[in-house]
Amino acid sequence: MTETSRARVLIVFGGRSGEHEVSCATAAGILRAIDRTKWDVLPIGITREGEWVRVPDDPTLFELREGRGQSVVAGDTRVTLTEGGARVLEVSYDHGADGTLGSATDVEDLGRVDVVLPLLHGPYGEDGTIQGLFEMAGVRYVGCGVAASANAMDKHLTKTILKEAGIEVGRWELLTSSQWEDDPQECRDRIAALGYPVFVKPCRAGSSIGISRVDTPAELDIAVKEAHNHDPRVIVEAAVQGREIECGVLQGFGGASPRTAPLGEIVLAEGAFYDYDSKYIDTEAVGLVCPADLPQEDAARLQHTAARTFEALECEGLARVDFFYVPDTHEVMVNEVNTMPGFTPYSMFPLMWAHAGTAYPDLVDELLEGALERPLGLR
Ligand SMILES: Nc1ncnc2c1ncn2[C@@H]1O[C@H](COP(=O)(O)OP(=O)(O)O)[C@@H](O)[C@H]1O
Ligand SMILES: [Mg+2]
Repeated sequence: MTETSRARVLIVFGGRSGEHEVSCATAAGILRAIDRTKWDVLPIGITREGEWVRVPDDPTLFELREGRGQSVVAGDTRVTLTEGGARVLEVSYDHGADGTLGSATDVEDLGRVDVVLPLLHGPYGEDGTIQGLFEMAGVRYVGCGVAASANAMDKHLTKTILKEAGIEVGRWELLTSSQWEDDPQECRDRIAALGYPVFVKPCRAGSSIGISRVDTPAELDIAVKEAHNHDPRVIVEAAVQGREIECGVLQGFGGASPRTAPLGEIVLAEGAFYDYDSKYIDTEAVGLVCPADLPQEDAARLQHTAARTFEALECEGLARVDFFYVPDTHEVMVNEVNTMPGFTPYSMFPLMWAHAGTAYPDLVDELLEGALERPLGLR
């Protein structure tokens, strides 16, 4: 295949959220696996401070090493996406006097982009903000649009929308930082009415960052403070005693129904919850099992609910819907929806699709091809 017949893919990763390193690990997996005969890859990293930079097309710089993540670092150049043209420019700068950038000295046109693969997790990436930038720039991109990304990122809005759609979710309370400051006792009373134990979470984080399990009222204030460190909006949920089952969903463009993958299960050591360490550091403490072993009719109901959830939130492209499943009562509750789920070759979402017969590089192809077919503008 010739150079010009390959579509140009901008891979964007890193970013300002607490999941920067996870995003880098995902990007490394994709840089290794993506089919270079089909795709001309331009990797762009976003630093923790939000600077956009061109980075080497080298997965070893970004993958996890013995559980330790890597980061995107900036030099004296920055990358920008032009509005209405989907061109990428790299601007070089002088050294400024105080260590900041000085004036621009050169601009290199890195060319047009056909499609963006935003591999960002969490705020400023998975929450509709960067999706809005792509809409403004008139460039196609993989995954959910602005509203679906924003709603799925926010655990309170997700539950509100799903409940309205008649999809089962657990009981919860929203605690904004001003409610907590103005009347903490009213907040404590609302939480007590949920019944302990509870889970206290930032509304818009991920990878379990800022989440605590609280067993008694005495521990509540510390947990709320910790969650408020990450987000002025905090959600408190009644703890659910259930198995953690996840379902991958894919949808091509053009009115196709969402397709669901075989279910996966997160199997945790007794008494543990799926926190940041068990996700990325002490990965021995957790097992990813696919397909999950549950009765056929419950599995089918879960998959059906995952597809309805995808539609209720108006998702596009991909999402992973995470559930609690209570075997004794056969109850199925949506916990959360991830519009850019973990996507390293060892993550649950690719594992589920591998089980369905779609290997990792083919999954990447499918997402990019779907995004190329999707029209620009209001859909
Ligand atoms: N309401 C709940 N009941 C029981 N366990 C919970 C509850 N909420 C969260 N957890 C535990 O905490 C983990 C992280 O919470 P989750 O809502 O999935 O946040 P994140 O977006 O960070 O993945 C879950 O995988 C589960 O182990
Ligand atoms: Mg989760």
